[in-house]
Amino acid sequence: MTEKAYDKKLQIQTTGLREWGKKDEAYNRYEATPYSALKKFFAIYKFKEDDHVIDFGSGRGRVAFFIHDKFDIPVTGVEANDKTIDEAFKNKETYMKKRGHLKAPIMFDFALAEQYDIRDDATCFYFFNPFSLRIFKQVIHNILRSFKRNERTLELILYYPLPSFKTYIQNHTPFEMINKLPTPGDHGKYGKFVVYRLEPTTESE
Ligand SMILES: C[S@@+](CC[C@H](N)C(=O)[O-])C[C@H]1O[C@@H](n2cnc3c(N)ncnc32)[C@H](O)[C@@H]1O
Repeated sequence: MTEKAYDKKLQIQTTGLREWGKKDEAYNRYEATPYSALKKFFAIYKFKEDDHVIDFGSGRGRVAFFIHDKFDIPVTGVEANDKTIDEAFKNKETYMKKRGHLKAPIMFDFALAEQYDIRDDATCFYFFNPFSLRIFKQVIHNILRSFKRNERTLELILYYPLPSFKTYIQNHTPFEMINKLPTPGDHGKYGKFVVYRLEPTTESE
């Protein structure tokens, strides 16, 4: 199925790019995760019923709609570009027309990821190369603060993980890599998913 055909199935429009121009080089352009990669990854990776996913830099919402449609779990997209988030809102209207049977909420917040207050029931955080390492570190710091308030199993899913991001997670955070899935053909050598997990501390008896 082509990208456009899959969009049609979900009744959304998520193809194409949007550059930020020179506004802020720390913010990366809009480009959706390829459906072929999403299909491959989510054929293997499964969510739990009580998971809540946040897509940081959710763009026009492709990942959010894909997960919501497949798993019927709560998904929140956080996007900082006003034009792009408007497209996600429009997509939500058309997507929802035939999805009254799905119970879980799907939400989009117009916000900067680095300033976003992490809800303490969010369990899984998706990143497709949305911003600079400096901003990523701030978002991870916010996630860890939420973990301190409410210890629970957390997972990070990175699509197209750049080496500096992986090194940062490995050397400076308590997250551990649990899975890696290459998606050859999509985005060359960085076309892969890497999953990291953080477990609650268990108290010894
Ligand atoms: C590569 S796209 C990924 C889109 C989507 N997650 C997907 O995989 O299909 C990155 C998105 O992050 C957004 N973005 C960049 N910096 C951001 C920030 N600081 N806070 C929130 N969104 C940001 C961009 O506008 C863009 O839409």
